Amino acid sequence: MAKSLVVIGAQWGDEGKGKIVDFLTARADAVVRFQGGHNAGHTLVTGGKTTVLHLIPSGILHPGVRCIIGNGVVLAADALIKEMDSLTAEGVDLEGRLLVSDACPLIMPYHVKLDQAREAAAGKSAIGTTGRGIGPAYEDKTGRRSIRVGDLRDLAWCRQKLESVLPGHNVVLQQHLGAEPVDIEESMQFLDSVAERILPLVVDVPEQINQSLSSGQRLLFEGAQGALLDVDHGTYPFVTSSNTLAGAACAGSGCGPTAIDYVLGIAKAYTTRVGAGPFPTELFDSDGDHLGRRGNEFGATTGRKRRCGWFDAVSMRRVAYLNSMTGLCLTKIDVMDGLDTVKICMAYELDGKRLDSTPATAAELERCKPVYEEMPGWQESTADAATFADLPANAQAYIKRLEDIVKVPVDIISTGPEREKNIIINNPFDQS
Ligand code: GDP
Ligand code: IMO
Ligand code: MG
Repeated sequence: MAKSLVVIGAQWGDEGKGKIVDFLTARADAVVRFQGGHNAGHTLVTGGKTTVLHLIPSGILHPGVRCIIGNGVVLAADALIKEMDSLTAEGVDLEGRLLVSDACPLIMPYHVKLDQAREAAAGKSAIGTTGRGIGPAYEDKTGRRSIRVGDLRDLAWCRQKLESVLPGHNVVLQQHLGAEPVDIEESMQFLDSVAERILPLVVDVPEQINQSLSSGQRLLFEGAQGALLDVDHGTYPFVTSSNTLAGAACAGSGCGPTAIDYVLGIAKAYTTRVGAGPFPTELFDSDGDHLGRRGNEFGATTGRKRRCGWFDAVSMRRVAYLNSMTGLCLTKIDVMDGLDTVKICMAYELDGKRLDSTPATAAELERCKPVYEEMPGWQESTADAATFADLPANAQAYIKRLEDIVKVPVDIISTGPEREKNIIINNPFDQS
């Protein structure tokens, strides 16, 4: 019985989570974001129109479905208001169905300053963050220094909090990073300007979620980023600052692990990465150009060119158990149409030795060379395939091979950016 489904990215983000969450929402009662912030960029293509979401859950284009932002999300209130306004201008009715946890830490303008000043000061060792203040906001959360959404009810308390927090941040900004200090009045103005729009959205999210679960509704927990960007299990320190794994869905929204029935991992049929950090299967040749060009591989948040490479089965095997992945959705198979040969990374070679699993550090992974298995590509188009049997034989063989290696069944194959361009082998919600 899959009543509650967690959808996560199985690579370094941008796997097509938004598209798949939007598609699966047709059968869901609520969609819940549980980590990350507006560093995410989720692209939905419906009825010829493209919508890019950063904070609002990707179920929002389905009228009546509740879209919930859980406590695990660091909330840029200004970005949320902007996103709400742009959806409203497009005719999307948000009334009563966009809900926010009062326990979300706020991303303040000084978090953005800190993020950008640190990246600038780091020079060559910069992470390549999205510059949205995500890392500093999570630091303040675990450092117990956050101003949270619920605190907007008491701006006098917020002022006191800022009086204790800002001196420390200003020492870092001025003395360590050579940046301008932050003014308390600016921060108060920010809080004052967002409170009125944000507070009406606030509900007791754990109560909502648990009521939905006990009344038999279907919940979809939407992950942002990807497993290899997880702060604990990813390619640290080239990661984001939250847990991106399926396990985070519970703590980031307010339910326990037994509430989760199904974990769907989304992976591109190849691999991309934005920002710095090791990427063993990265391509610098015409095959890489093919993937980047056909896949239109530019970031939905920062517009940066995404690095492209072959499918990495070594990391995917690990990601499968890190998430207790029930099923896999392979996206962008159409982007691989026209390649003469396709490759799968089966193992790494490190200092002359074969490795069948991921090494412990990013520095070691950086030195790993991929050991590939080659398969013939396909020249036919996969874009209009409605069933698995419609796919070119070589594409079928490639997908079957990935399934065999990763040992997780492929549930969905995505063949284009549009909502309906999918081959459904098993819809996780069909089992409920
Ligand atoms: P997300 O962050 O995981 O939601 O993914 P993004 O939206 O950042 O990036 C995925 C990109 O691939 C978007 O431009 C999607 O429109 C596009 N996309 C998703 N699935 C497919 C697919 O199967 N084929 C093609 N060609 N594009 C896809
Ligand atoms: P979606 O949800 C791809 C990357 C950044 C950088 C690192 C840290 O669209 O898949 P951060 O700003 O989070 O501190 O940056 O993480 N990153 C993403 N890459 N997709 C994303 O989100 C990302 N969110 C963050 O490029 O390398
Ligand atoms: Mg994205």
